[in-house]
Amino acid sequence: NFGVAITGSGSAVPTNFLSNEVLTQLVETSDEWIATRTGIRSRRLATANDSLQAIATQASLQAIAMAGIAPTDIDLIILATSTPDDLFGSACQIQAALGATQAVAFDMTAACSGFVFGLVTAAQYIRTGVYQNILLIGADILSRWVDWEDRRTCVLFGDGAGAVVMQASKRDRLLGFELKSDGTQNRCLNLAYQPQVQALVNDIDVAKGNYQPITMNGKEVYRFAVQRVPEVIDKALFRANLKVDQIDWLLLHQANQRILDAVADRLHIPHHKVISNLAHYGNTSAASIPLALDEAVRADKIKDGDIIAASGFGAGLTWGAAIFSW
Ligand code: ACO
Repeated sequence: NFGVAITGSGSAVPTNFLSNEVLTQLVETSDEWIATRTGIRSRRLATANDSLQAIATQASLQAIAMAGIAPTDIDLIILATSTPDDLFGSACQIQAALGATQAVAFDMTAACSGFVFGLVTAAQYIRTGVYQNILLIGADILSRWVDWEDRRTCVLFGDGAGAVVMQASKRDRLLGFELKSDGTQNRCLNLAYQPQVQALVNDIDVAKGNYQPITMNGKEVYRFAVQRVPEVIDKALFRANLKVDQIDWLLLHQANQRILDAVADRLHIPHHKVISNLAHYGNTSAASIPLALDEAVRADKIKDGDIIAASGFGAGLTWGAAIFSW
């Protein structure tokens, strides 16, 4: 049996800032409303010159350097994203940019749970001995799909990318996990295809179309997260044979500070163990966990051997937790 370890991390965001103040010029809102309801003060915004591939590649290069491997050592690249540059997938574009010539590469979509789902997926390839070196990326440019006239959603999201290198290791550092989906709640959060019927010939129609901007029932998503996230963390802890007070860091999808606080309170985890960077980045979807992880690692907050409880939650609906040691 082969164990799994995360041996490198990296992150990258577009250079453009969008502050709450500037948002007040777009929609009827205020810095005070956004900050007290969400904890968000600013977010990064991709321009037409930015691409998902570029920020994901930048984050990946940092993770690869920290792991001390070469791009050609990578066996598999998994890109967790809902916003690829190309609907056919962006993982291969990143593979080319990295020169990771030996890697097979594919995209994976599980919205804001994408990084945790990807972590567990990647671990299976390592545990079965199929691959030794995997690059897992969580990256999203949700600003492409935001309705900038909808104040209920446009204040929440930001753009970014995070990456980790996962390697085969004698000691298995993925201690437990639990993943869940509930498609009956799909309508809570969507970025849905909107068909527009176009007559081809005679009585043959095709559905050409585009994607609708993000729609969300904020209250439902809030309730879902606060209830379901503690449940999956409990289950993953049980699988890891650990108790909640053994967690050093609670690393949740950075959606909303009130969700972070409420989940910590439900689990009786003190707030100083909660990693939070959403004031600066907003909700960056699949990027939020690896982005926050990388910042905490580089700030020397997370130390060798620390136990991290990570949980992603979002559209699908999907949610999941992974307990791992650094
Ligand atoms: N500025 C000012 N007022 C606003 C804004 C805004 N940006 N947005 C909504 N309001 C108004 C509403 O119109 C409403 O006014 P009304 O009472 O006159 O109708 C009032 O503020 C209260 O609105 P609520 O929706 O009840 O506000 P709530 O306290 O629920 O906060 C929020 C909204 C922040 C979206 C909250 O529901 C939330 O955080 N939900 C979770 C959302 C989330 O995390 N989604 C992402 C997770 S999944 C993923 O990452 C893809």
